[in-house]
Amino acid sequence: MQNTLFDVTGRVAVVTGGASGIGLGIATALARAGANVVIADLNGTEAEAVAQRLATETSSETMGLAVDVTSTEQAEALMTKTLERFGRLDILVNNAGIGIHCRPEEMTMEQWDLNVAVNLRSVFHLSKLAYDSLREGGGKIINIGSMYSIFGAGEVPAYAASKGGVVQLTKSLAVAWAEQDIQVNAILPGWINTGLGAQGRREMEGLNERVLARTPAARWGEPEDLAGVAVFLASDASKFITGVSIPVDGGYSVA
Ligand code: NAI
Repeated sequence: MQNTLFDVTGRVAVVTGGASGIGLGIATALARAGANVVIADLNGTEAEAVAQRLATETSSETMGLAVDVTSTEQAEALMTKTLERFGRLDILVNNAGIGIHCRPEEMTMEQWDLNVAVNLRSVFHLSKLAYDSLREGGGKIINIGSMYSIFGAGEVPAYAASKGGVVQLTKSLAVAWAEQDIQVNAILPGWINTGLGAQGRREMEGLNERVLARTPAARWGEPEDLAGVAVFLASDASKFITGVSIPVDGGYSVA
């Protein structure tokens, strides 16, 4: 007998920042679980390449789009093109994020605004744009936070503030839209081996050693480590779970 609890066959998912790293891991997991997936990324060439690869490797239909999530017009176009192609939207994964490494006393307001625009403002904007589609038949929003949603970080203050905001926004949208059968949850990844993780290792001296020493699992995570929780939060298995932030961190946040 087929287990339908975690099955997302026929549902349509948009994954921002889906061309690499954690977003790619989540997009791959959703496609393997049966969803049709739109990869929306600043890097349009890579988004299209990933979409083609997933369409070949799975039975899902996919689409790759060049999207800057901070652009009002491009965010609106993403929703329009998704509905034109698939006629529905069931799952929104707000994953696109950047980390600007700069101590607070040196950070410019332009750096602050950009970091918050990518990591937090876009989460609100895309969720708002998706609302009408998600409420038709129930929907899911999955926001990607960070360990810096919980902990302070002198070297990435705007990143930490934006990721803390993601947790509070997740709770607020969850409360606002629970009656519309939209579940809004967040994933808080620990230290994951991606382009951003490599940037952190380059820019934050001793980071690799600190992460290995502090993480009970004694390793960096891989994008595949996010696959299970993403499918869970995208599927009917999590119908009565909303507003929570789930660390996927090898024990980092509890040690
Ligand atoms: P990554 O750098 O490998 O991938 C980020 C993707 O987002 C890239 O494909 C990039 O082109 C895209 N992107 C960046 N700005 C964009 C914009 N304005 N519009 C559309 N797409 C944009 O990074 P990674 O590690 O996969 O990060 C994904 C998410 O996970 C981010 O929100 C990040 O803050 C979060 N995260 C990552 C952790 C890690 O250790 N790697 C830990 C905790 C959270």
